[in-house]
Amino acid sequence: RKKVILDVDTGVDDALAIMLAVTSGQFDILGITTVSGNVSLDQATENTCKILQLLGVSAEIPVYRGASKPLKREPFFEHNVHGRDGIGGALADMPVLKEAEAEAAADFIIRQVLAQPGEVTLIMTAPLTNLAQVLQKCPELVQHTAEVIIMGGVVKGFGNITPTAEYNMYVDPEAGKQVLQAGFERLTLVGLDVTRQALLTTVDIDRLRNPEIAAYVTQSTADYRQRYFERNGVQACALHDPLAVAVAMNRKWVTVQDYYVDVETRSDLCDGQTVCDFQNRLNKPPNVSVCLEVDDRAFMEGFIHSLNQELTE
Ligand code: BDR
Ligand code: CA
Repeated sequence: RKKVILDVDTGVDDALAIMLAVTSGQFDILGITTVSGNVSLDQATENTCKILQLLGVSAEIPVYRGASKPLKREPFFEHNVHGRDGIGGALADMPVLKEAEAEAAADFIIRQVLAQPGEVTLIMTAPLTNLAQVLQKCPELVQHTAEVIIMGGVVKGFGNITPTAEYNMYVDPEAGKQVLQAGFERLTLVGLDVTRQALLTTVDIDRLRNPEIAAYVTQSTADYRQRYFERNGVQACALHDPLAVAVAMNRKWVTVQDYYVDVETRSDLCDGQTVCDFQNRLNKPPNVSVCLEVDDRAFMEGFIHSLNQELTE
């Protein structure tokens, strides 16, 4: 099983990414690190602990708290998208029975990667602050990480927080830039170009077999689906973060191409924009495998199948 660490700012879709990673049975999840993003660090950590409890794996998967704000900027929460608590109030009554560990997220990542050089994949579904801190503390980690898969950015389409920027890159563009420029041998960007197509509809939700999981997914995505309905006439929830996990599960679900990509950090209008050098105008070697297409139905089958596994395995 692939050894992974998930880095999350647990909002609606991060929670579903954790669920996919756990139920898929394909990963040895070494731990989950949290960061300020959609919600505060405290809230993201609480949500993460609750999701692991819901799945019955809180004893096996430790949680580590990371950065409470971006490297240089103030936090930019998304309560309008993810609800006041980040997961649509779905687990409001659940007490946290197992808290996060004392070790800091960056130290945990460094310790795990160095202990198992070349074996650990980092799946990042939040602003990249924690990984940037890791690189500042331990630059040689780059050589020892098997792969980094990032939900972030958009290269052909438009942004979801400004006209040009995707949320995770917008919130901490300095961190995004450091990570993309760090020299990782395998770094994959799962951006809005593909995640916008990974739509969970009510028809899909109706296929969930585990009553607890179905109830959770229904409630946590309700407002998100409703807002999507108001704009697009269909009830759906974009599975941005689960698609990053899916790429770690089965790369065949996406089509990737290698390009040089950088993040804008010094613009009034375009901070957080991921600029992809499609025509090699900058004459720099590719640093990122960019996801350009997705087999969204195959992915969704895999997603539903995994979440239904919990019942029997
Ligand atoms: C990303 O931003 C967050 O709101 C989601 O959790 C996802 O990681 C999508 O742009
Ligand atoms: Ca996220």
